[in-house]
Amino acid sequence: MKAITQNSIGNAETMYIGEVDIPVLRENEVMVQVKAFGVNRADILQRKGKYPSPAGASPLMGLEVAGIVAEAPVSSPWKIGDKVFGLIPGGGYASYVAIDAEMLWRMPDTMSFEEAAAIPEAFLTAFLALQWQGKLQRGQKVLLHAASGGVGTAAIQLANAMQAEIVVTASASKHAICAKLGATVCIDYKTESWVDVVQEVMGKNSIDVVVDFLGASYFNDNISVLAMDGRMVMLALMGGADVSGVDLRKIIGKRITVIGSTLRNRPLSFQRKLAREFAEQFLPSFSDGRLQPIIDTVMDWNLIKEAHERMESNQHVGKIVMKVSE
Ligand SMILES: NC(=O)c1ccc[n+]([C@@H]2O[C@H](COP(=O)([O-])OP(=O)(O)OC[C@H]3O[C@@H](n4cnc5c(N)ncnc54)[C@H](OP(=O)(O)O)[C@@H]3O)[C@@H](O)[C@H]2O)c1
Repeated sequence: MKAITQNSIGNAETMYIGEVDIPVLRENEVMVQVKAFGVNRADILQRKGKYPSPAGASPLMGLEVAGIVAEAPVSSPWKIGDKVFGLIPGGGYASYVAIDAEMLWRMPDTMSFEEAAAIPEAFLTAFLALQWQGKLQRGQKVLLHAASGGVGTAAIQLANAMQAEIVVTASASKHAICAKLGATVCIDYKTESWVDVVQEVMGKNSIDVVVDFLGASYFNDNISVLAMDGRMVMLALMGGADVSGVDLRKIIGKRITVIGSTLRNRPLSFQRKLAREFAEQFLPSFSDGRLQPIIDTVMDWNLIKEAHERMESNQHVGKIVMKVSE
């Protein structure tokens, strides 16, 4: 089959469409002919050799796909020709991928492959962070950093559906979309001190849940804005991994919970439960427009280099999706 592979670990120039072996189905897996896949920052890290696929997963890049079932065991709930989308720990940058049958969802009739491919990674990450880990409740205040990205635009919509009050940080040019999706306060972290604005507009020690992607550079300020019993869910380290000057008195005094999380290397049983609960609660909302994948660009997969470069230079808003041509 065709797949995006690399001639060496490195920059976006190293990627090309080559020929690799088609996956061999394991128990409970279904073969999907990939029509579209989402691009993620994890792919960029993997391309650079910093985030290899977990043991047992395809070594190819690609965490989310939409496509058509090409092969399924007779015992499977899926039939050849079903239009599906889902999350995988690797292998999505290919014309065929093997996916656990319980990690697949049926595509609503109204949805395109490109829209479907933009949903799994961003929405499952946001759902896990806000609901399972952040335990966000109706009426509570949530601070979402990097809010214009794939995960951020999903998180704004889910927090809005959970009737939370939403504060975001993002580049100024990206505020309009964040506000449209449900953010009540948008802060330009490049020109304003976001911590000052949060304290001023929302009140001191007011934030119930922070979803953080920056790590070290935001750690102390996140602790400062959190309320009593606040939760900080840490998903990435775009601002570094080594923190100094942490005032532990604030963490203990405010009974703060700091949670680090990943999705890709979770046990399959955890991922299946997550996918099932998300589908039960939120999948119908994509059919009636209450939720929508925010798509920045759709490109042919020949343009994977341009897609990675667009993400690395933070030009995008929402998801970049690649169409798999023959
Ligand atoms: N742990 C997990 O389970 C998990 C799951 C999925 C994703 N992730 C990670 O979470 C992060 C976000 O994912 P994503 O898919 O939403 O990425 P994305 O679509 O690329 O969005 C990230 C956004 O962050 C902003 N940003 C970049 N550098 C920044 C900085 N130094 N300070 C503040 N903002 C910055 C950019 O917007 P602006 O123009 O506003 O700066 C960018 O668009 C990635 O690092 C990804 O690998 C983790």
